[in-house]
Amino acid sequence: MGMRNIIVGQSGGPTSVINSSLAGVYKTAIERGFDKVYGMLHGIQGFLDEQYVDLSTQIHSDMDIELLKRTPSAFLGSCRYKLPEIHEDMEIYEKIFGILDKLEIEAFIYIGGNDSMDTIKKLSDYAIVKGHKQKFLGVPKTIDNDLALTDHTPGFGSAAKYIGASTKEVIRDALGLTYKKEMITIIEVMGRNAGWLTGATALAKTEECEGPDLIYLPEVPFDIDAFLSKIKDLLKEKKSIIVAVSEGIKLPDGRYVCELSGGGDYVDAFGHKQLTGTAAYLANFLGAEIGCKTRAVEFSTLQRSASHMASRVDINEAFMVGGAAVKAADEGDSGKMVVIDRVSDDPYMSAAGIYDVHKIANNEKTVPREWLNETADYVTEEFINYIEPLIQGDYPPFMVNGLPQHLVLKK
Ligand code: F6P
Repeated sequence: MGMRNIIVGQSGGPTSVINSSLAGVYKTAIERGFDKVYGMLHGIQGFLDEQYVDLSTQIHSDMDIELLKRTPSAFLGSCRYKLPEIHEDMEIYEKIFGILDKLEIEAFIYIGGNDSMDTIKKLSDYAIVKGHKQKFLGVPKTIDNDLALTDHTPGFGSAAKYIGASTKEVIRDALGLTYKKEMITIIEVMGRNAGWLTGATALAKTEECEGPDLIYLPEVPFDIDAFLSKIKDLLKEKKSIIVAVSEGIKLPDGRYVCELSGGGDYVDAFGHKQLTGTAAYLANFLGAEIGCKTRAVEFSTLQRSASHMASRVDINEAFMVGGAAVKAADEGDSGKMVVIDRVSDDPYMSAAGIYDVHKIANNEKTVPREWLNETADYVTEEFINYIEPLIQGDYPPFMVNGLPQHLVLKK
């Protein structure tokens, strides 16, 4: 009898809990009796160059598993690589399945967002058409929370927690600075075309903090004149103004605001522009129009790598969906992605489900319009109620010499 091996890869933008899913895959695969657990380096792109490791050479103990769960960024390396349509280039598929056969792979697990699910969709379709026996399963991951059919995505809760906490800190800092002079702070949040994370800045609104004054999501066109007049009105009432904007806010003509300042030049394999500089542009714009002090704060990669303040709920769910994918593949499922079902809100409980990847790949789930206020410059209570359970609990890092310790790949 041949070997029963499994391979796992990570793809797309990382999160602070993506490695908790990897840990879930590894631990469950070992428990279910797989012989070898391979990790592809830099996702399907590295796999095509036969870049992979036997994970037993990297993970030696339960302590390593715990460290992995607390390590941000993709432990195996990530990629943004789009497979061609099957009819466009059969050779690439033959090559992939040749390597899978050589490694005696039974199950292929891919941890990623909607672009990465495109890879699972194509590979599972090809396997069916050509009669290959391997199973292909997706594990959800993205800070953007824009995957369809799952209540939320692993990575989102921890990023939301960091954003809520950091927004509170930025507000406190700004309030301490504004005595007689006005100051406007613009906070820029990731999330591309979905405003879930930008809305999470509203978490800062607590007993001792007013929260941001205005929140602009990419779901609604951004009217820069209306924005300016709102800011001028607010300045009549208060000296420190805090505005949260998504990196992906667009003008009514469809251009990203960041493109006005030269951002958005770089385009990845999926046609996504690199969005950066929205806050800087708006801070300069307001500075010139109003003549007061302005500051731009771009959370950038900090919001997806701040594992030192990850949410316990998020880390645990990330681990759970990794394990659930292995179980599903082992039981014969393929062409599917594990989803998180919200079982109850109070107490919060969730469970892993499974869904056809064809309904998920390349689809963006955005914030429903009714979860924004009428003027589309703040989120509603319902939005907050949806996020709050996902940011609960801590998963403290192992501190060494005052800093969090990580598990890193030994080459
Ligand atoms: O998809 C996740 C994400 O973090 C987005 O929020 C962001 O727009 C994008 O990745 C940035 O990607 P990169 O780090 O490749 O520029």
